[in-house]
Amino acid sequence: MRQKMAVGNWKMNGTGAALAELQALAAAQGAARAEILICPAATLLSRAADVVKDSSIAIGGQNCHAATAGAHTGDISAEMLKDAGASAVILGHSERRADHAESSEEVGAKVCAAWEAGLMTVICVGETLTEREAGDTLNVVAAQLKASLPDGATGENTVLAYEPVWSIGTGKVPSLAQIAKVHNFIRAELTTRFGAEMAESTRLLYGGSVKPGNAAQIFAVSNVDGALVGGASLTAEEFIPIISALDAS
Ligand code: PGA
Repeated sequence: MRQKMAVGNWKMNGTGAALAELQALAAAQGAARAEILICPAATLLSRAADVVKDSSIAIGGQNCHAATAGAHTGDISAEMLKDAGASAVILGHSERRADHAESSEEVGAKVCAAWEAGLMTVICVGETLTEREAGDTLNVVAAQLKASLPDGATGENTVLAYEPVWSIGTGKVPSLAQIAKVHNFIRAELTTRFGAEMAESTRLLYGGSVKPGNAAQIFAVSNVDGALVGGASLTAEEFIPIISALDAS
C-alpha cells in the first residue's frame, strides 16, 4: 500500500511570520495518516525544521544545484538542504523549467545529486495548454519522465507530481477523466521502465489548483496518491481540510 502524501509548495512566499501557519498545521496534524511535506523558501528551511521537529511533518527544498559545491553564486546544493533540515526536494517544477529554462536533462542531474545527499525527490512533469490543445499531453509527459527520472528511481527515493502547467495557480482543473488518463499512463510508463514493484510503490501526486472544495473528488481518481499544493498550502486553514480529504480517501 502506498502511503498517501500531501506536499505544500510555498514557492517565493513567506517570511518568519509564516511559521505560525506551520505551527498551526503541526498542532492539528498529529493524527494524520498521510505523509505531509512542506517546502518553504530556502531562507525558512532551518527555522521550519525546528518548528516541526516534534511532529511527523517533514520539510523540503524547492530546488537544488546538480553540483555538490563550487562557484555557483546564489545556488544551493542538496547537501546544504539536508544540513538545513530538509529530507526532500521538489525538482523540475514548471516554474523553474519556465523561469530558469531548466531542461529535463538538468532536472535528471539534480535528482541524482539529491539522491546522493539522501534526499527524497518530488519530480514534476506536465504539459502546457498549447501542448494539451495539440493533443501532445502524453508525449510531453513521457519525454519529461524519461529524461527527468534517472535510473535508480525507487518508491522510496521518488515521488512524481503531475502538474498541468495551465492549471497551476489559475483555478482551472482538468476533468477527473483527464487526470486519471495521465496518472494511469505514468504508472504504466514506470512499470515498463522500472518494473511492477517500483511502479506500484511510487506515489503519484496531482498538482494544480487543488483546494478544499475539489480535493475529495481529485483524491478519488484512480492512481492519485495525493497532491502537490501551492496557494492552498500557505495557510493551515486551507491546507488542513485538504489533508483531511486525503486521509478520508
Ligand atoms: P497551485 O500550485 O496549487 O497554487 O495551483 C501548485 C504547484 O505549483 O505546485
